[in-house]
Amino acid sequence: MSDQSNVLAGAGVSSSGNPAAAQNAADNFVQIVDVVKKFGETVAVKGVNLSVRKGELFALLGSSGCGKSTLLRMLAGLETVTSGKILIDGEDLAQMPPYRRPVNMMFQSYALFPHMTVESNVAFGLKQEGVPKAELKERVQAALELVQMARFAKRKPHQLSGGQQQRVALARSLVKRPKLLLLDEPMSALDKQIRQRTQIELVNILDKVGVTCIMVTHDQEEAMTMAGRLAVMSEGEIVQLGTPNEVYEYPNSRFSAEFIGSTNLFDGNVVEDEPDHVYIETADLPVRLYVSHGITGPLGMPVTISVRPERIALTRKPPEGAFNWGKGVVTNIAYMGGYSLYHVKLDAGKTVIANVSSLALSEIETPTWGDEVYVRWSASAGVVLTS
Ligand SMILES: Nc1ncnc2c1ncn2[C@@H]1O[C@H](COP(=O)(O)OP(=O)(O)OP(=O)(O)O)[C@@H](O)[C@H]1O
Ligand SMILES: [Mg+2]
Repeated sequence: MSDQSNVLAGAGVSSSGNPAAAQNAADNFVQIVDVVKKFGETVAVKGVNLSVRKGELFALLGSSGCGKSTLLRMLAGLETVTSGKILIDGEDLAQMPPYRRPVNMMFQSYALFPHMTVESNVAFGLKQEGVPKAELKERVQAALELVQMARFAKRKPHQLSGGQQQRVALARSLVKRPKLLLLDEPMSALDKQIRQRTQIELVNILDKVGVTCIMVTHDQEEAMTMAGRLAVMSEGEIVQLGTPNEVYEYPNSRFSAEFIGSTNLFDGNVVEDEPDHVYIETADLPVRLYVSHGITGPLGMPVTISVRPERIALTRKPPEGAFNWGKGVVTNIAYMGGYSLYHVKLDAGKTVIANVSSLALSEIETPTWGDEVYVRWSASAGVVLTS
């Protein structure tokens, strides 16, 4: 830990010297238990259960209106729960008076005070708390150094770029040493390029301070880049929870598969189910689908197979295998630099998207619009979705 982060670090997990209890406390630093939120007839959050670990950067992801901000606002104590409870570091949030809540929320529009300097903006909350002058100065300085804004301390917000303003807002949140930092769409005011750079910076800063952070975003790339774990929400419920890699590679539903990254979905019916593989008959391909893992369910069961675009290879010659390929025509090509996205319209009518590296393309004399090609993928490329 650097000096700045020591100055900024909040209180640790209280443990009784019992390692198992300490681990449990750290794993359940934030506990959301059966939380429901109704606004009149609207059920914005429908019984969410979630534990967030100490020091974790956790992302809540989902389409507009699925309840992300509402959940965050309840964590911040800005909204009461209709039922259920929220514990932070073992303490029931509802029992804590607002000034004792160890939570700080950075809003989507993080509105700095326009008439105050950067320094005064960051100092504002501490002044209100009556923090002694010397300590205040030290903490503000440390927070500004942490976000690399110390040399802009005397500027006003309008003299800063969007990314710089965002960092000041972050310093303003961190200087209060929250145990839990809540970020609602923290990057939404930034344009794409600066956004990507800021994502990495933010992760580094949060990591240094060691603060537990729950972030809301509807940008799946942002969640994948930043978060250690994420929850995909839909209509007030968590539909999948895991590391970005788990959710991407093993989506548990069509919703997750389509929400996290793009994918190709094939509908079909199970015609052979063995412990280590399944065959699926589909109208989309001239051959069967083969997936190298078993599933639970009866023969004939309708399923959907998800195959990510980067798992799909293009060939000029008909593939030799008896499964996992189709024939079609190139209908669109998006050149992305190191790779291209090929849209291939299969004979049966379905369009498949393949993400093919420039190297792989050069090996098959880069197909162009209207060319007849084959798409194929390996036995381990597909994931069976039953919901
Ligand atoms: N104060 C309120 N009164 C009534 N309904 C509300 C209120 N706040 C939110 N809602 C409703 O609750 C649902 C969830 O809203 P919420 O703001 O949590 O969505 P969100 O996931 O943050 O969406 P977005 O990505 O668009 O910000 C929506 O249907 C919304 O209309
Ligand atoms: Mg929102």
